[in-house]
Amino acid sequence: MKKVLVIGAGFMGAGIAQVCAQSGYRVFLTDSNAEALEKAVADIKWSVEKLARKGLVTEAPETVLGRLSPEQGLMKAAESDWVIEAVIEEEGLKKEIFEELDHLAPAETPLASNTSSIPISRLASATKCPERVLGLHFFGPVPFMALVEVIKGEKTSDDVFERGVAFVQSLGKWPLPVHRDIPGFVINRILFSAFRECAELIDEGIVTPENIDVGMRLGLGWNIGPFEIADNAGLDTFLRVGKAMKALGEDHLVPRSDRVERMVNEGRLGRKVGKGFYRYTADGKRLPWDSDS
Ligand SMILES: NC(=O)c1ccc[n+]([C@@H]2O[C@H](COP(=O)([O-])OP(=O)(O)OC[C@H]3O[C@@H](n4cnc5c(N)ncnc54)[C@H](O)[C@@H]3O)[C@@H](O)[C@H]2O)c1
Repeated sequence: MKKVLVIGAGFMGAGIAQVCAQSGYRVFLTDSNAEALEKAVADIKWSVEKLARKGLVTEAPETVLGRLSPEQGLMKAAESDWVIEAVIEEEGLKKEIFEELDHLAPAETPLASNTSSIPISRLASATKCPERVLGLHFFGPVPFMALVEVIKGEKTSDDVFERGVAFVQSLGKWPLPVHRDIPGFVINRILFSAFRECAELIDEGIVTPENIDVGMRLGLGWNIGPFEIADNAGLDTFLRVGKAMKALGEDHLVPRSDRVERMVNEGRLGRKVGKGFYRYTADGKRLPWDSDS
């Protein structure tokens, strides 16, 4: 059985670990925060059991969950066929992890990052073998989103890139090959430029966030509006990605106002804490921020 090490057990890492376990991989999941790791394992169990009840996972939940184990540190890289890094969007931290992985993982093991914005070549520069570093950019919630961008860094070998495409297919996902390593890759560049315009429209009092979301759904056929996407992704993550894009000179993709930063400082981190652009009831129902109900 092929083995995958997932580093970072937050919203994305937990989802990636779940999908890998559902696809028959032996999965090691690690996080520097013991509570986050424990929560991730509990969330994955809840999700796999729910999907099994709906017939969307055909194996017994115990079988899927039996392939997953929480781990401390990065040592399991030494026996893994794939490593996927999904820690917070901080270039320095990710580079430290890639440097350590480069020593621990066997030479043939590809090292992937789930970064939303940081060019893969910058992360690969922390390793002695940038040929085996690539981007695997999943979308959240991972069990339900079919797309994964497969990003070729400047030095990623053709073999590793092709293996990345095949790996994504083995998870039942759709690989979108990205042949040039630019900040934000493809889909996030488009999302962030749309979000920037939407944020300015609400900053100027022209429209409410909920009416933009309705507009994008009913007018353009989006399944979900930009503010719903931001709340689901986590506004702290959205803010970090915006800052990373800005640091890379992509100011034109980042909203001019500090609205998201102010919201994060007020604890409005999105769906995960029950408040963001919207409010959420305990059973997950989304309500406009200023509604009485
Ligand atoms: N949220 C999204 O919708 C989304 C989508 C695609 C990609 N991403 C990217 O995925 C990555 C993770 O995002 P997220 O939304 O899961 O964030 P998150 O905050 O939910 O989870 C990040 C996790 O990383 C852990 N962590 C921090 N430092 C660590 C370390 N040194 N070693 C191990 N674990 C560490 C944290 O404890 C946390 O549990 C980021 O690079 C983000 O840009 C996010």
